[in-house]
Amino acid sequence: MIFTVAVDGPAAAGKGTISKRLAAELGLAHLDTGLLYRAVGARVLGGEEAAAAARGLVPADLDRPGLRQPAIADAASRVAALPEVRRALLEFQRAFARREGGAVLDGRDIGTVICPEAEAKLYVTASAEARAARRHAEQVAAGEAQPLEAVLAEVVARDARDTGRADAPMRAAADAVVIDTTDLGIEEAVARALEIVRGRL
Ligand code: CDP
Ligand code: CDP
Repeated sequence: MIFTVAVDGPAAAGKGTISKRLAAELGLAHLDTGLLYRAVGARVLGGEEAAAAARGLVPADLDRPGLRQPAIADAASRVAALPEVRRALLEFQRAFARREGGAVLDGRDIGTVICPEAEAKLYVTASAEARAARRHAEQVAAGEAQPLEAVLAEVVARDARDTGRADAPMRAAADAVVIDTTDLGIEEAVARALEIVRGRL
């Protein structure tokens, strides 16, 4: 069976959480494509730790917590605007999307560029304030929080860069179903996503 679920949307909208749960519930493979750009961004930033993280470009090593740092998110969105970088990562993502057994991919351009033929497309979004509050809460839990206003400014700047670039800008595919998670708990958002995807299976 080939069945692709494309999950796109801005930072901290809940794409990753929803995608992991969809993959687990439906028995599909999952790829967080943001980690590919984070790995490239980390390498560009340089430094020993960043270089070590970047070496994890192979999927098995992609969950390194180091790649979650805010500086790496910023570097990722800068390298993500370069057509050469996007081109280098394209085939790996396309092959993953159409692998036997089915797959969920989350990112910015899955439904528009990587897999326009995806059987199910979701665009997960939320207000910038709600998304910044979530990222801030994650940082507090990890013991390394920036001020909330700084997190909000970063989220807004990154959204603008991702929406404004010429190559594969972030946007909802015409046939994507939009899920606004601003006022949705995780369980409600997952239930809504599952209902939509099951309807396409
Ligand atoms: O993958 P993406 O950056 O879109 O977001 P995420 O990592 O799935 O979610 C960001 C944070 O928001 C996580 O800490 C989630 O637990 C939280 N979240 C939430 O509070 N409510 C939701 N409906 C979805 C996610
Ligand atoms: O988790 P969060 O939503 O904060 O970020 P991410 O999904 O890890 O993506 C980091 C950056 O990589 C984004 O801001 C985009 O610039 C870039 N990206 C992209 O251009 N295309 C994708 N398919 C995934 C990520």
